[in-house]
Amino acid sequence: MTHQPGLRVASPAVAPRPPVVRPAALVRSIKPYQAVSSLDHIHSRPELVPHKLDWNEATVPPSPKVIEAVQGFLSRAHHLNWYPVLHSTNLAEKLAAFHRVGEDNLLITNGSDQALDTICTTYLSPGDPVLVASPTYQHFLVFAQTRGAEIVHHYGPDPFDADLEGLLAAIQRVQPRLVYLVSPNNPTGVQYTPAQVAAVAEATANGLVIVDEAYSEFSGRTAIGLLHTYPNLVVTRTFSKAYGLAGLRIGYAVAHPVVVGDMRRVFNPKSVNVLAQVGAMAALEDQDWLRWYVDEVREAKRVIGDWAVARGVPMRSTPANFVMLRFERAPWVVRMLQEVGVYVRDRSHIPHLSGWVRFSVGTVDQTHDVLARLDGVLQRLEA
Ligand SMILES: Cc1ncc(COP(=O)(O)O)c(C=O)c1O
Repeated sequence: MTHQPGLRVASPAVAPRPPVVRPAALVRSIKPYQAVSSLDHIHSRPELVPHKLDWNEATVPPSPKVIEAVQGFLSRAHHLNWYPVLHSTNLAEKLAAFHRVGEDNLLITNGSDQALDTICTTYLSPGDPVLVASPTYQHFLVFAQTRGAEIVHHYGPDPFDADLEGLLAAIQRVQPRLVYLVSPNNPTGVQYTPAQVAAVAEATANGLVIVDEAYSEFSGRTAIGLLHTYPNLVVTRTFSKAYGLAGLRIGYAVAHPVVVGDMRRVFNPKSVNVLAQVGAMAALEDQDWLRWYVDEVREAKRVIGDWAVARGVPMRSTPANFVMLRFERAPWVVRMLQEVGVYVRDRSHIPHLSGWVRFSVGTVDQTHDVLARLDGVLQRLEA
């Protein structure tokens, strides 16, 4: 064998270490989002039919028209070798008609997470105060903290109730650059009326108000109509939940054209992949399927409500596709449910949510099976 100069690496005198991140103090101070996925466990137990209820995904595949559109795209001259349509203008045109807004009101992103991240990149400088109606979706905190923002949590007296007065007082006090509201909120289900969102936007004179509507298709309520009046409002939406496209990663922001224009300055227009664009367009066109799934989830939440009353288990329903159930030994119940193939999210360690476990909700049939397995676990608890 011929010797190839340059391929041999002399052993270094000092063992290599990961380089120091810059600014080190900032990055190292961020608590990583606890993205624990149940997928490994699910794959390790092929004998169990799993109920994946931990990430509020849809529990069924998306509309058959989505599958048809993606397969059709792949079976034609698909040009996977080309970059996708920049800024997803193909989807933006349909979404603009759907929401009765202009295409310049829309930024289509790689999941609504990227919309949240882009808002933070566009608007936040180190030290900027960001007011978060808590407890809520935790990943947003990472996006804001990465820009060096100072997070101020606002907790109301009851985590399951909107505390508008307290929030307005906090806005006066903190003078936030960004306010983050999730409506309906994950995991508490708190929902803000358009009048409440308007009051928050009005009070946030020098900042931007984000209304994260990841679950809005389930609740039927949206703040998009307020955008004409409040240019300091941005609504984020997703195809991950009610449309069942979490695996494709596609979402969007709706805002005033100046806000969208500023976000486009820092946004990579080829962030959304071509299959996500094709899938989302087909999903949007099949509103019958969406209505069917939203109705199933609503009925399934009623079934869980009846079950909780019968068993004496404290429950909070939500206008979204999840409910909260409270158990004395929440971590034990979550672990035992996992053993029988039901994956839910323990929220009991979060401030104000002691004992509460979040269950994503799917179809009525699936829910009967989930409750039967939960009954089995609770019987073991009593034994
Ligand atoms: C409130 C909220 N916002 C955003 C997201 C992220 O959604 P996407 O899949 O669109 O990035 C989630 C996901 O759980 C969520 O609960």
